[in-house]
Amino acid sequence: MEWWKTATIYQIYPRSFQDSNGDGIGDLNGIKSRLYYLKDLGVDCLWLSPFYKSPMKDFGYDVADYCSVDPMFGSLKDFDGLLGEAHKLGLKLVVDLVPNHTSDQHQWFKESRSSRDNPKRDWYVWRDPKPDGSPPNNWMAYFGGPSWTLDAKTGQYYLHQFLPEQPDLNWRNPEVREAIYEAMRFWLRKGVDGFRIDVIWLLVEDGKFRDEPPNPNWKEGEVDRFRHLHPYQEDQPETREIVQEMRAVLEEFEGNRVMVGEIYLPYDQLMPYYGTLERPGCHLPFNFHLMFRGMSNWTAENLRGIVEEYETNLPAFATPNWVLGNHDQHRLATRIGEAQARVAATLLFTLRGSPTWYYGDEIGMTDGPIPPEKVQDPAALRQKGSAGEHGLDPGRDPERTPMQWTPHAYAGFSTREPWLPVNPNYLERNVEAQDANSESMLTLVRTLLVVRKESKALLEGDYQTYKAPDGVFAYLRGGEVLVALNFSPEAKAMNLPQGEILLSSFLDRYGAVKDRLELRPNEAVILQL
Ligand code: GLC
Repeated sequence: MEWWKTATIYQIYPRSFQDSNGDGIGDLNGIKSRLYYLKDLGVDCLWLSPFYKSPMKDFGYDVADYCSVDPMFGSLKDFDGLLGEAHKLGLKLVVDLVPNHTSDQHQWFKESRSSRDNPKRDWYVWRDPKPDGSPPNNWMAYFGGPSWTLDAKTGQYYLHQFLPEQPDLNWRNPEVREAIYEAMRFWLRKGVDGFRIDVIWLLVEDGKFRDEPPNPNWKEGEVDRFRHLHPYQEDQPETREIVQEMRAVLEEFEGNRVMVGEIYLPYDQLMPYYGTLERPGCHLPFNFHLMFRGMSNWTAENLRGIVEEYETNLPAFATPNWVLGNHDQHRLATRIGEAQARVAATLLFTLRGSPTWYYGDEIGMTDGPIPPEKVQDPAALRQKGSAGEHGLDPGRDPERTPMQWTPHAYAGFSTREPWLPVNPNYLERNVEAQDANSESMLTLVRTLLVVRKESKALLEGDYQTYKAPDGVFAYLRGGEVLVALNFSPEAKAMNLPQGEILLSSFLDRYGAVKDRLELRPNEAVILQL
């Protein structure tokens, strides 16, 4: 079976993982120095958020040169060193690709904006103002304000779905496609195991640039982008064809390179991103539903519904995948509490398919407090919104604070004050402390990954919901491993034939059970039947 069908993917936000040169910002050599930790944790594949040359207006998601390493993170040689070491340890390495937009400092955009007849003019999306001088239509950007900025010199607006410093590439232009495919080949030739592709569902926009309709569910306090529904800015049919083209670029290379797509869409719109058996698309279009519908109503009944709906809707050839956190969403332990974070980890690593884990969640890192004068996230600085699914306060900094390695200065992340403050709970909550504790969250994640790897049923078996009392979500994998998750703060009991406990999320009991399983409050149990 191809490696990515069962792989655990671990997301590293390079700025925040490990600093090796004392500038307060994480870097590639820092990551390299922590590879043994990652190997020991038991993950299979590392995904690095962008480390390319960038003015860092969106912390690297504004790329100024696709085939480079920003000096802040090291050099291409450091990258080769990291990749070589990772491979030696049997770890795969996936890099971020940001094809929807570049930085406004990218040479392509500098040329494009220099004049209306520049050969690269059409590499970006330029439109004339309306007769009154206003933007071409009502589209709003994710980071506040219109999706359009006027270039005074050439008298046209350019499209940007995020910051004005992140102009959208024109994916209808074949030269643009080829330029990005060449950048992909650059990294594939180096030997990377694939890409996580940024905002892949946003690549193409409506060719007629129609106004978007109002969103009837928009609430006061939510960010501007959500005032409208997005039938014209998002998820166009051409986008799915491009995804298939990108997949073909990966297929030029040996070694099962993988394409993971960032896609925030409901299931019916998400599934087409798998492509078809004949013309496949993404190997793993990210399934973010645990983070949204799941965490906004963290109950057994809701979670069971989400899992069943996904399982039912997946194309037969598709590999499922599940995600609990990333650099854009508040921390797992903050959102559902520490007790349930252990249940969530058990869920993630025992569902069918490939799980993705966010750095630091294995020690239960919580959102870091960010004093107003230290806020860095451009999304938060440019707009205010209520907390919640489409809100922003206090932005995305809290989930990006430095990894907590030790109880010493700056949590062992750096020798100098880091770019974002270390969460003060690092004194108790850190890798060193949890390493020494046989019942810690870190030990739980390690143990879960061992149990998972040793069980063919968990890696490859089918999924079947199992009858459970209210407050408990249970399922069978491969007909022989039973997972029972108690979402409630009360003890629960359920009937089962006979089994052997492989793991309790409290890491304090093993052995045989017969007829009846007593679950403690917030306990998750994996049983071999
Ligand atoms: C994706 C990234 C996010 C970034 C945005 C624009 O959603 O995950 O961090 O700000 O794209 O590139």
